[in-house]
Amino acid sequence: MTLGTLSRPTAGGVPEALDAAGGLVAELARTLPPGLAARMLDPADADAMRALRRRVIETLDDPDHYRVAGEVGDFVLDHLNTKGVTVGLFLGSELVAYGALGLPGPGDHNRGRDLPLPEAELPLVAHLSSAMVDPALRGRGLHHRMIDWRIAVADRIGRRHSLTTVSPRNHRSWGHLAVHGVYPKRLIDVGAKGGGSLLRLLVHRDALAQPVFDPATASLVPVEEIVGRGDLFARGEQVWCRLDQGGRWFALFGRARAAAV
Ligand SMILES: CC(C)(COP(=O)(O)OP(=O)(O)OC[C@H]1O[C@@H](n2cnc3c(N)ncnc32)[C@H](O)[C@@H]1OP(=O)(O)O)[C@@H](O)C(=O)NCCC(=O)NCCS
Repeated sequence: MTLGTLSRPTAGGVPEALDAAGGLVAELARTLPPGLAARMLDPADADAMRALRRRVIETLDDPDHYRVAGEVGDFVLDHLNTKGVTVGLFLGSELVAYGALGLPGPGDHNRGRDLPLPEAELPLVAHLSSAMVDPALRGRGLHHRMIDWRIAVADRIGRRHSLTTVSPRNHRSWGHLAVHGVYPKRLIDVGAKGGGSLLRLLVHRDALAQPVFDPATASLVPVEEIVGRGDLFARGEQVWCRLDQGGRWFALFGRARAAAV
């Protein structure tokens, strides 16, 4: 990633992402454990992607970790080269993992508004919409690799803001994103389809910012209490990482250090 790529006058969309993705998929494939292959998914993979999503959703540790009700539009088709792109990982011919990157255009739903970002920066938003890994292939770094891959595509096409929403209880997911600089910065109500409230962490990375944690502002919040701590986000704190303290998971809250003058 270079600042040169990020300062393109206009951000790329699906064609530019597909262009950038080819080389980046080859790089990703080189790092995969033996037996796994990577390629871009296209609309012909919709059924396989739906089947993997069903399998993963049916076996979630906690149904709150992934709510289809919180999704916008036709998730699968939108991310198969219409409003986004998706990388798929295969064991033989079976799709065992995917990482979807949403590329909102003018008029599309854009999570940058929830941060909020200035209107002029909304075209620079990429959504790290969703990643899923077959339960049998977890713990091999596939999620981490697909986070890296999606951020690299976003950077390559000049979309400096990576955003998505995550269940506060899904600390594995937001904890992994935070390792890559995509930090929980707000709690927002994404509203369940059909009514009702659905609170989610809004996570964000700005490729042009390098925030540094100020340890003087540190506090630990048990992950199950994050939903009640909108006050911490409201006073400018964010979550930096998750920590395991004696078998209980905590979020490390705090502010970024003021920039040196
Ligand atoms: C969340 C989810 C995507 C994680 O997938 P995963 O492939 O098991 O994740 P990874 O293997 O990258 O990371 C898991 C652990 O393996 C470790 N790991 C093992 N080998 C690794 C490697 N080669 N490189 C990096 N990490 C490695 C990681 O450090 C990580 O440890 P940690 O969780 O203590 O930080 C998966 O559990 C899932 O599909 N969950 C249900 C759907 C969901 O919640 N999706 C996310 C919201 S969209």
